[in-house]
Amino acid sequence: MASLTSVPGLDRLLARELERFEREHPRSLELSRRARGSLLGGVPMHWMVRWAGGFPVFATEAHGARFRDVDGLEYVDFCLGDTGAMTGHSPEPTVRALQERAGQGITLMLPSEDALWVGEELARRFGLPRWQFALTATDANRFAIRLARAITGRPKVLVYNWCYHGTVDESFATLDGGRVVEREGSIGPPVDPALTTRVVEWNDPEALDRELAYCDVACVLAEPALTNIGIVLPEPGYHERLRELTRKHGTLLVIDETHTFCAGPGGYTGAHGLEPDLLTIGKAIASGIPAAAYGFSAEVADAVERTITDELADVGGIGGTLAANVLSLAAMHATLAEVLTETAFARMIALGERFEAGVQSAIDRHELPWHVTRLGCRVEYLFRPERPRTGAEAAAGAHAELDRFVHLYALNRGILLTPFHNMALMSPATTEEDVDQHTAVFGDATAELATARLP
Ligand SMILES: Cc1ncc(COP(=O)(O)O)c(C=O)c1O
Repeated sequence: MASLTSVPGLDRLLARELERFEREHPRSLELSRRARGSLLGGVPMHWMVRWAGGFPVFATEAHGARFRDVDGLEYVDFCLGDTGAMTGHSPEPTVRALQERAGQGITLMLPSEDALWVGEELARRFGLPRWQFALTATDANRFAIRLARAITGRPKVLVYNWCYHGTVDESFATLDGGRVVEREGSIGPPVDPALTTRVVEWNDPEALDRELAYCDVACVLAEPALTNIGIVLPEPGYHERLRELTRKHGTLLVIDETHTFCAGPGGYTGAHGLEPDLLTIGKAIASGIPAAAYGFSAEVADAVERTITDELADVGGIGGTLAANVLSLAAMHATLAEVLTETAFARMIALGERFEAGVQSAIDRHELPWHVTRLGCRVEYLFRPERPRTGAEAAAGAHAELDRFVHLYALNRGILLTPFHNMALMSPATTEEDVDQHTAVFGDATAELATARLP
């Protein structure tokens, strides 16, 4: 990663933007100071310490693709709750369903009819016949892993270098010269991740074959394209090899669609005809109300039903008291029936193309050694000239100070990008004008950087 000193002029630009941010957000600054008294790190969830301005913007209300803050400023939101609000904020059908449902019971430990509709709809979209529900994608992944271990009798999980699947212990592992090590920043790992996890690079079928040949891997847990270290798309033929090799070695394939739902109504799986054994999804599926789902092929569902005992179902390590609560199911029903529809995706993906073209035009105009990648309605730019093939290549292209500058420059001009990424998501409520506003602001930022002769 290049350091600040190797990027002439960036420290000056960053200082200017930080000063502007602080000046224009006095109320957020005041609240963030007060928050230090009662909240760890001054934030309600620790990731929020990573906002580019040094303190987070405190929001008052959000509708569609926009939100307002406590200082009265309005923003176009391309972060959309880091995918949780890919539906747009508070979409009317979901709000209506929540209002109707909330007055008639929120959680019952009993099924509602919504669960059946949602299960049938998920089967139609993703091609897997049977489903269960959880509250977060992290939990859906945890439960999928436990079930994969239970039915294969194998201990390990295989993940990709620089993946992210939520706070799943087994996935906090990276490669260091071919060795599996703790991912930098992993807090309190229960055991050495080399004991639980095999790690390979994305788009490397030979490594996958070699690691699965130990025949101790219960499941591969994979996003169908990496999305948490920039977007790293699969090369042609990679998914066919992944499926072939997992079958050859008796390993189950778990596809995590939590972010790649952006590829279409059935996620990447639906758009590209993947055939996973299990599939997990969370975040946007209930418009931001906590909800997640995990689905099984008929073979896996039968094997699970043969393996787990009804008498001990409540202590088996999958499920949870509030999982499949009737309120979450009502929100999922409304979201799938009326918000994230085929028509909505067609619009969102067209907006993604427009956003991508806008970014590309600025990169071309200033001959910047950067690139932009899109997956459906999700667009991300990385500060390296070529598209990465692997997580390690993408990680090597990270540039913390440029990231911070671009985020802050956008925020100061009314645009919220997704933190930890240079990522933008289009919702059903996003407009062409919103996208063009980003194009103009990104064009100004790159012009300033080019003038400063930055890399
Ligand atoms: C691919 C993927 N899976 C799972 C998760 C976990 O989602 P949650 O934090 O809502 O549990 C994330 C979160 O970013 C993710 O990117």
